Amino acid sequence: MKNKHLINPMDFTIEELDEIFELAHQIISNPQEYSHVCEGKILATLFYEPSTRTRFSFEAAMMRLGGKILGFSEPNSSSAAKGETLADTIKMVSIYSDIIAMRHPKEGAAKVASMYSSVPVINAGDGGHQHPTQTLTDLLTIKSLKGRLDNHVIGICGDLRYGRTVQSLITAMSRYENIKFLLISPKELGVPQYIREEVLNKNNIEFREVEKIEDVIEELDILYMTRIQKERFFNEDEYMRLKDSYILDTEKMKLAKEDMIIMHPLPRVNEIDVEVDKDERAAYFKQAEFGMYVRMALMAKLLGVA
Ligand code: CP
Repeated sequence: MKNKHLINPMDFTIEELDEIFELAHQIISNPQEYSHVCEGKILATLFYEPSTRTRFSFEAAMMRLGGKILGFSEPNSSSAAKGETLADTIKMVSIYSDIIAMRHPKEGAAKVASMYSSVPVINAGDGGHQHPTQTLTDLLTIKSLKGRLDNHVIGICGDLRYGRTVQSLITAMSRYENIKFLLISPKELGVPQYIREEVLNKNNIEFREVEKIEDVIEELDILYMTRIQKERFFNEDEYMRLKDSYILDTEKMKLAKEDMIIMHPLPRVNEIDVEVDKDERAAYFKQAEFGMYVRMALMAKLLGVA
């Protein structure tokens, strides 16, 4: 895995993912043992789009491994504002750092960055396309809380059209045995056709598309909620019409299995009522914590230090 880029969740084999999850569990059990492994290493975080969890968890991860960070959270503070190309920025940053995590509004930007970088590039989200480290986070959460990655009925609810975490998760989970998806969205926000054809149909994955949570919640082992992605809509009226399509509340949770877990990549807007946070099945804050540990494991592997 040393020196690989992570652009798409399929860039790693199932065996490589297992190595990352195993290392993440070792770090969780014994963080002191890993607190110096990245001494002398520098992570660059290049965030051309807003972030709380992804940027901070990457930065916290590198600091907890003993390394240092540089970067920007606002592209106007870099020479991108003066017209510098992404290729030139990446050539520069890969001289100054050992590993790069980049979020960009354009689909494919991370792939382009990897072509100009002399150090590993990690895609921290490219437009509505992919968010592979969120998927590592999601898989580690499922493996840790449900004990396995196969044999699950997974409901994914909300904006399945523009949600990059959704596309990455479906793609990654399609490699595990006996996974069934229940895709819950308004008709306008269903999964893109390439996910339906190239991922679900091609891999003979069972799935059903429905419009109401209540119609399927009792079948689910995992309910993965997502926010309606305001920033990806071309039409404000359309967003206003769809933004409150789903609100998971304590009444709906009465219909769910006792051991179902609720996941959400966060940020949430109002698709999960805050009262649900008190439910033991709410796993989304724990999920964000797993995100830091899995990024520690990922960077340690890509840098070849663990
Ligand atoms: N889940 C996620 O990507 O959150 P941020 O946008 O806050 O990084």
